[in-house]
Amino acid sequence: MKNKIILTKIFQKEAVDILKKDYDLIIVEGSGKDLKTTLKNNPDTEVIISFLSDKIDRDIIEISDNLKIISNYAVGYNNIDFIFARDSGIFVTNTPDVLTAATADLTMALILGVSRRIVESDKYMRSGKFKGWGANLLLGRELGGLTLGIIGLGKIGLATALRARAFGINIAYYSNNRKPDLEKKFNFEYMELEELIKNSDIISPHIPYSDDVHHLFNKNTFEKMKDNAIFINVSRGGIMNESHLADALESKKLFGAGLDVFEFEPRVNDRLNKLDNVIMVPHIGSATYTARLGMANIVIKNIKQVFSGKVPENLIPEHNVLKS
Ligand code: GLV
Ligand code: GLV
Repeated sequence: MKNKIILTKIFQKEAVDILKKDYDLIIVEGSGKDLKTTLKNNPDTEVIISFLSDKIDRDIIEISDNLKIISNYAVGYNNIDFIFARDSGIFVTNTPDVLTAATADLTMALILGVSRRIVESDKYMRSGKFKGWGANLLLGRELGGLTLGIIGLGKIGLATALRARAFGINIAYYSNNRKPDLEKKFNFEYMELEELIKNSDIISPHIPYSDDVHHLFNKNTFEKMKDNAIFINVSRGGIMNESHLADALESKKLFGAGLDVFEFEPRVNDRLNKLDNVIMVPHIGSATYTARLGMANIVIKNIKQVFSGKVPENLIPEHNVLKS
């Protein structure tokens, strides 16, 4: 008998084909049933392949006694009650590395797009407003010499910093664990969080979401930021109070914002829809063909490792606590 896998959403066809060949694959999307019902109907499920929009809580994790691994097709895994899974002896894996470049590229795209008002300019063209070149038309912010404050100098934070350097941007960062080797090698300046918020022209958090960072960006934070600063968020919507961000954009306290994630995803605060100084994209940080195929391959690799009795390669770091 083939091992049973539940895939909550359709992903790369190549990956679905491999899974179908080797396993008893049940796909939730399009089946007319939800994940919970599907699990209840298949209590011998050994694997759940989940996506960041799937809430994998205790109720879900407890249904199958045979569950061995929850393989999340994302680098972030705050959608999973991973502590409960870990303590129940279930592996939780994610898909790091392969999406680092794609996410850092998108971060730069948002920085460039906001600073040079690209989307606003495009709308201007399409609405027929362009009547001739103008010395004061759609002026933006020049990036050279600005300071980019990165919160969380992990892989994506670092990849973003290295791209930004090529534009003459100075890099400051805050992280729970200071990285002196990177500071020296790339001339990054470490700042305490408060200092970073006050001194950055562009702020981009690259941290995982947890309760500790819920609404890290709120009225207070936006007020402390420099006038005309740019706020970028490609991490998780929950780290910002979206309504407070709308205030800071409406009042022009901020020059602009670039958002890939939203507090109540997929819903967006309607005030943002009316503003020209925000660029919004629908959580596409990792959305390149290369990254998404890489993510699918990691998911499959980790599942295969578990079925051959190995510890999967991309266990989330919280598993280390258990092992040590
Ligand atoms: C995307 O947000 C991810 O965590 O992979
Ligand atoms: C996380 O990426 C950190 O460096 O704190």
